[in-house]
Amino acid sequence: MHAFVNRTRPPDHYFLWNELNMLRVNDDYLKLRAGYLFPEIAKRVRAFREQNPDADVISLGIGDVTEPLPPAVVEAMHGAIDELATRGTFRGYGPEQGYAFLREKIVEHEYRARGCDISADEVFVSDGSKCDTGNILDILGPGNTIAIADPVYPVYVDTNVMAGHTGLSNDRGEYEGLVYLPATADNGFVPDLPDRPVDVVYLCFPNNPTGSVATKETLARWVRYAEENGTLILFDAAYEAFITDPEIPHSIYEVPGADRVAIEFRSFSKNAGFTGTRCAFTVVPKGVTGADGNGQSVPLHQLWSRRQTTKFNGVSYAVQRGAEAVYTEQGAKQVRGLIEHYQCNAKIIRETLADIGMRTYGGVNGPYIWLQIPGAGSGAGGPASGWDFFDKVLNQCHVVGTPGVGFGAAGEGYFRISSFNTRARVEEAMSRFRKKLSG
Ligand code: MLT
Repeated sequence: MHAFVNRTRPPDHYFLWNELNMLRVNDDYLKLRAGYLFPEIAKRVRAFREQNPDADVISLGIGDVTEPLPPAVVEAMHGAIDELATRGTFRGYGPEQGYAFLREKIVEHEYRARGCDISADEVFVSDGSKCDTGNILDILGPGNTIAIADPVYPVYVDTNVMAGHTGLSNDRGEYEGLVYLPATADNGFVPDLPDRPVDVVYLCFPNNPTGSVATKETLARWVRYAEENGTLILFDAAYEAFITDPEIPHSIYEVPGADRVAIEFRSFSKNAGFTGTRCAFTVVPKGVTGADGNGQSVPLHQLWSRRQTTKFNGVSYAVQRGAEAVYTEQGAKQVRGLIEHYQCNAKIIRETLADIGMRTYGGVNGPYIWLQIPGAGSGAGGPASGWDFFDKVLNQCHVVGTPGVGFGAAGEGYFRISSFNTRARVEEAMSRFRKKLSG
């Protein structure tokens, strides 16, 4: 536990606020640096387009899918809509936790098939892993010591800032109160265990943004650490479908004991193309506990269930029927086809960048390629920072990527390229890289 002093709320602010008779805002939001990363990029791209209306801009920035929903999913959704059109089969509110038909399929295919002992009532269907990784903070108390990797998916950091779990940020963009775990080329972009006890740690494998993966031994080390230190692991496995190496675990529950220390976030966004449709699920095993103010053990399942039933009304019936179709024979085959499409894009990107002399990581067991920016910060004519390289790629190639520094200070000197696009656009982007950035 750490005691954190919130410096943005000196008592005289309360006085001023009362005097002015004005609505009080959440000051913690004012600690956030700039905008959320992807809208910030979109803003810069909009400005570029305004200045260059004829430029054909290719986005390899935000990890948004481009390929249409699998036909089996579409057919199931159409069928569900037809049901809703008829009095006899119409449905109103669904169960907040998700329909049993979907939760049971999830358990059978994602967990039992991998030897994980997860039951359907431990699965909570939701509208996204991004939302759930933020919302989970509702059930955690103040004063926890929170560890995150650096670089990291910015949602984990920003939602902790919004919840008042941090102080202000320093020049490097690091927030007081968070424990940063560097993920660098030296450790294969897999952070080492913290050098002190922490209460919560976010892990994301396959990793966004670096594309690194965790072996079963690595995850077992984290589970042991969590058991020894009373740590909650928030495990984001939104990209598990991209794993190609059969030795790499798809779920943290493949590690014995993880069902007492870990909550897992999973999504249909990146495998089945649901980024716009919205469907995901979060697993909160009944054995995962925390302590109340009296030191009594409380199951997090009970709190998350209470949170969801109060604040969430579930994912629409048609979307859940669509997600269920992912587990049919046809659906599974079509989803595999989608993933192979993006994996092939990733291979084209990796190979092109290698060909033109650039160093890359990731892109094998995940959809993101983590590019080491040539000459970054060397003062030898290379870009000074990831945002300079972002501008260079946008101006010279008309391609959008994501500066690594947008994911944290340790991401400086890197650039993330997403494989989510059509084949033709990826090939075109890479041909521009060859022409403009070779050598
Ligand atoms: C990303 O580009 O990092 C992802 O699109 C983020 C997300 O899925 O929210």
